[in-house]
Amino acid sequence: MEPIKIAIDGPAGAGKSTIAQELAKRLKYTYIDTGAMYRGITYEVIKRGIDINDQTAIIELAKKININFVKGDLYIDDVLIKSEIRSNDVSQRVSYIARIPEIREIMVNAQRKIAINQNVVMDGRDIGTNVLVDAQLKLFLTATVEERSRRRYQELKEKSVITSLKEIEEDIKKRDKMDEERSCAPLVMAKDAIKIDTTEKTIEEIIQQIIYLLGERIN
Ligand code: DC
Repeated sequence: MEPIKIAIDGPAGAGKSTIAQELAKRLKYTYIDTGAMYRGITYEVIKRGIDINDQTAIIELAKKININFVKGDLYIDDVLIKSEIRSNDVSQRVSYIARIPEIREIMVNAQRKIAINQNVVMDGRDIGTNVLVDAQLKLFLTATVEERSRRRYQELKEKSVITSLKEIEEDIKKRDKMDEERSCAPLVMAKDAIKIDTTEKTIEEIIQQIIYLLGERIN
């Protein structure tokens, strides 16, 4: 049987990773956080002191390093990468790297390869429109900017990352704009995606809605 692919897209802080992780756990599918892959390469660029504007060096690095997921954890050249990729330094630079077409090509190829032989829940910005165009279920999660900022603030606080709500709100607005306006694979909703506004819904309500939608599609 063909593997099942669930694509979850939407802006930063719309609840994608929380929902995608919980959904994958319940369905026993593999969860792939594609944002973590773009963050991972950004983290390596910073760590190695590569100039954020030096696209040639960044592309060369992306070709050289091995970004992989093992049981939901991100590894770069076999080193486990965790909260390092959630730092402000990474968050503020990642959109610059995610807009380089050659970087996207490398990431998209890696993402498609992961989904070839297993059921996946994959979240990102271009999953339904580009990475997994044949996904059986495509979702586009949204929430207000205020709600998304509040959630990200809470998430970072729990991970002991020091930041302020105002800083996050500004960062989210800036990233939304860059993600939506970039020429290569901008953040847009796939024509066949279902939009879910998560602002006033509980995680459980959203999960139940998605499981129902999936049942409609695959039964
Ligand atoms: O979801 P996130 O905040 O971890 O994503 C980090 C950045 O990577 C964000 O600026 C959007 C970008 N991204 C992307 O361009 N395409 C994806 N499939 C996933 C993330």
